[in-house]
Amino acid sequence: MVHGSQHFPRTRMRRTRQAPWARDLVRETMLHAGDLIWPIFVVEGEGRVEPIASMPGVERLSIDIAVERAREAADLGVPCIALFPNIDRSLRTEECAEAWNPDNLVCRATRAIRAAVPEIGVMEDVALDPYSATGHDGIVRDGRIVNDESVEALVKQALVQAEAGANVIGPSDMMDGRIGAIRDALEAAGHQDVMLLSYAAKYASSFYGPFREAVGADATLKGDKKTYQMDAGNTEEALREVALDLAEGADMVMVKPGLAYLDICQRIKQTFHVPTYAYQVSGEYAMIEAAAANGWIDREKAIVESLVAFRRAGCDGILTYYALEVARMLRS
Ligand code: PBG
Repeated sequence: MVHGSQHFPRTRMRRTRQAPWARDLVRETMLHAGDLIWPIFVVEGEGRVEPIASMPGVERLSIDIAVERAREAADLGVPCIALFPNIDRSLRTEECAEAWNPDNLVCRATRAIRAAVPEIGVMEDVALDPYSATGHDGIVRDGRIVNDESVEALVKQALVQAEAGANVIGPSDMMDGRIGAIRDALEAAGHQDVMLLSYAAKYASSFYGPFREAVGADATLKGDKKTYQMDAGNTEEALREVALDLAEGADMVMVKPGLAYLDICQRIKQTFHVPTYAYQVSGEYAMIEAAAANGWIDREKAIVESLVAFRRAGCDGILTYYALEVARMLRS
């Protein structure tokens, strides 16, 4: 370090920490509403707001309410929302065909939000788990998640989403080759402006538990996702995943979960210099909420601190269930 020779008392690190104005002046990393993507859960119905037990404060919303919330998010400067559907149990099948029904819940929600709130970006998830009888992100044949047939299904899913007006498509399925296949299909269909935010380094994680309750996949999931999602012990593999997805046509990449994987975020940003995101997942949300509900941590401070950590690690933005609330906090 250049300053290593300047000993105390010439160097006093506390000088720049002495008052709020001084701390403001030297702060390197700040959080802005523009850094946030807000994931919301949608359900059928009207005027429906359903609590999710393991995610206190997060709700499943019918499309009309989702539109109102999207309006609120846009007004607060949140640039993008991500839609996750809770599909009726009767539509969850082995073939997952509801995923590419052009009038499925998520496509209708997309059309409604794009029409009512044109200035917000709408992101959709590409993966079969909300539509699957077995809760897996791909097609299951004889107990195995088959890669190439899954990619064909995911391409069909991405196309109906793009047709419905999705601005950003986020493949979270971790099948091999899906980014290239989706990109080619989008180009061929004239959707050249649809962005691909690839869940490039997605780990098989215990932190997704509450999300699976939210989309109703907790009851359907058979087994685990370790044959497609990454092992928590690996870093180099994450870099290979990102390199492949970028070569196949991803515009932006994501690491998931977030807080336990900040080293991965930092390495990806420093290696590839591309727009890099992290997903502060449901389990991370639930941990903050549970500790705060017990009075063990200061909720608002813990939320902001956890989000600043992503920016400090090099993330350009964060998917967080706190997006709306934090945008409101930042405004006041
Ligand atoms: C599934 C998907 C998951 C999440 C986003 N998309 C769960 C999983 O892989 O089982 C998790 C998000 C969260 O936990 O907040 N395609």
